[in-house]
Amino acid sequence: MMPLPSRVGRLIGVSLGPGDPGLMTRRAWALLERRDAAWTYPARSTKTPSYAFDIVLRSGIALPAQHQALLFPMTHDEVKLLRHWHRAAEVVLPVLQAGQDVLFLVEGDASTYATFGHLARTVRAIDERVAVDVVPGVNSFTAASATLGQPLAEQDDTVAILPAAYGVGAVDRLLHDFDTLVLLKVKPLMDELIDWLEQRGLLRHAQFIERCGAPDERVVTDLPSLRGQKVSYLSLIIVRNPHRVRGERIKGCLKKASPLVSQTTEEKE
Ligand SMILES: C[S@@+](CC[C@H](N)C(=O)[O-])C[C@H]1O[C@@H](n2cnc3c(N)ncnc32)[C@H](O)[C@@H]1O
Repeated sequence: MMPLPSRVGRLIGVSLGPGDPGLMTRRAWALLERRDAAWTYPARSTKTPSYAFDIVLRSGIALPAQHQALLFPMTHDEVKLLRHWHRAAEVVLPVLQAGQDVLFLVEGDASTYATFGHLARTVRAIDERVAVDVVPGVNSFTAASATLGQPLAEQDDTVAILPAAYGVGAVDRLLHDFDTLVLLKVKPLMDELIDWLEQRGLLRHAQFIERCGAPDERVVTDLPSLRGQKVSYLSLIIVRNPHRVRGERIKGCLKKASPLVSQTTEEKE
């Protein structure tokens, strides 16, 4: 048996931001410029190009000698998912065990609904010597807020970030408690979501953004125009909810308003 090398490589989840290479962090950029690490990146099928890989291609950074797509199909089938995480781990592990670092390229932020967590857990379950690092990044909805020119949250605003997959009923229940709703994975529910926004008088307060940061980014404010249209998986909707009735804020970072008002009044007198 071949002796194992003393150093096992690190598995590094490198967040790339939502699509514009200009939104990569310096740390991500520096890692990608290393020539001694192998790259892996997720792809949904052999026919769909990897969005993460495409971001790096557009950055102009030279490709390393070793780079490979790992297949993660879009499914809720637990058995299928486990099988693919395992297969991906089996591709990555020999490289790590040979002492080479492996970068896993992640679109958006690696801690936000990303495949990286599953891969890292599977790899460590097989070989716990593998150390895992995460380089954080700009996620899709903060970039989208900037593109839309609207804050995600101000003062004591509450924000809910959720996959719309739970259905319109679940999204609707959040209106009571949240000022901003960030709806991810909206593709299969577009028409239902548009109907719901209309019923709730929220159409004017909702914006749709597709492939934020990519050259073919699309922003749609007239959501009914999207009825019956096919949209990209990389789409989200941000809803600002003007109807929420706020309770009294018990503690916050702001000073109580009344003494300030009386002081200002006193100063004027
Ligand atoms: C699996 S989650 C990945 C989230 C990502 N890691 C992040 O930090 O934003 C995929 C969902 O995020 C949203 N998303 C990711 N990238 C996007 C982009 N560039 N433009 C619009 N929505 C995006 C879409 O709702 C998509 O269905």
